[in-house]
Amino acid sequence: MKALLLSGGSGTRLRPITHTSAKQLVPVANKPVLFYGLEAIAEAGITEVGIIVGETAEEIREAVGDGSAFGLDVTYLPQDQPLGLAHAVLIARAYLGDDDFVMYLGDNFVVGGITDLVDAFRAERPAARILLTQVADPAAFGVAELDAEGRVVGLEEKPEHPRSDLALVGVYLFTPAVHEAVRAIKPSWRGELEITDAIRWMIDAGRDVRSTTISGYWKDTGNVTDMLEVNRSVLETLDGGVDGTVDDASEIVGRVRVEAGATVTGSRVVGPAVIGAHTVIAGSYIGPYTSIAGDCRIEDSEVEYSIVLRGSSVSGVRRVEASLIGRDVEMTPAPRRPAAHRFVLGDHSKVQIAS
Ligand code: G1P
Repeated sequence: MKALLLSGGSGTRLRPITHTSAKQLVPVANKPVLFYGLEAIAEAGITEVGIIVGETAEEIREAVGDGSAFGLDVTYLPQDQPLGLAHAVLIARAYLGDDDFVMYLGDNFVVGGITDLVDAFRAERPAARILLTQVADPAAFGVAELDAEGRVVGLEEKPEHPRSDLALVGVYLFTPAVHEAVRAIKPSWRGELEITDAIRWMIDAGRDVRSTTISGYWKDTGNVTDMLEVNRSVLETLDGGVDGTVDDASEIVGRVRVEAGATVTGSRVVGPAVIGAHTVIAGSYIGPYTSIAGDCRIEDSEVEYSIVLRGSSVSGVRRVEASLIGRDVEMTPAPRRPAAHRFVLGDHSKVQIAS
C-alpha cells in the first residue's frame, strides 16, 4: 500500500499567514500540520509516499526532504496547476501503479492517526472507504448523504443546500478501482476534477464504497478559532520536559515543554504549553494552550491560548489572548502620547482591539 499526500494549493483561507508560507507548514504545537500526516502514514506501516506539490514545492521539499526523518521514502509529484484532487490522482497514476493507496490532504488533521482505518482497509478492501465527520459549516466541504443503513447514497462538493452535516474528511482509502473513475469525470463549476465526483461515479457504477464517521478532525477553514482549538487538543497530549533553561525566579506549572536552547527567566509558565528552541521568555506570563515557536522573544508580557510563529517578539504587551501571530512579527506598546494604536498590518490581517 502507498500514500498520496497532497501538498499543493495556495491556502487563501489562512491568510495572511499563508501569504508567506505553505498552508501545510502552519504549525500546531510547534510542528507543521503536514508532519502529523506523515507521522500518521508511517505509523500505519506505509513507507512509500508520493507528495503532490504545487507553487510551494520548494518550501515543502525543504521541510520534508527525502522523508527519511519520518522513516518514509518520499517521491515528489509536481502538479503544474491546481486542477483538483482527482487530477492529482490522474497525474500520480504511474507512481501508484496497481497498488492500493491512502490519499491524505496535507492541510487536514485527524486526531489519533489512521492506523486502524488502514488496517481495516487492508483486510476488507472495498473499492473505496471515505471518512466523514459532523461539521457546523457543511457547505465548505464535500457532503455525504447516508441511507437508514448507513450506506453512502449521495455525495456533493460544497453544496449550497447541504443534505446533511456529514463532511468528507480529507483522508480517502482507494483500490485501483478509483483510476477508472478519475478518468471518467468532468471538471466541476470551479474548474477542478473533484475527488468527490469520482467517488460518486464509483457509487453510481455500483462499486463498493464504504464510510467511517470519525470525531477529532480539523482542517484549514480559515477560522483562527479552529486553529487555536486544534492547537489546544494537541497540547493536551503533550509530554512536558525542560531541555532549555529555567531560572530559580521562574515557575513552571503543569505540562510545559521548554525546547533546547530556550531560556525562561523571572516568568510563570502554566501548561500545557510549548516554548520553542532558542526562544527567550523574560518577566512574562505564558498561560495554558500556548505554542511559542523557536527564536521568539516574549518580554514583560502575558500570552495565553495563542500560537506565536518563529522569530516574533512580544514586548511590554498585556495581554494577548486567543491570537495567531505570524513569523517575525514585532509587538510593542505605543509611545505614551498621543494615546493611539499604531499598526503595520499585512494584507488580510485581522485585529481586535481591547479599548
Ligand atoms: C477538499 C474536498 C472536500 C473535502 C475537503 C476536506 O476541499 O474537495 O470534499 O471535504 O477537501 O479537507 P478543498 O480543500 O479543495 O476546498
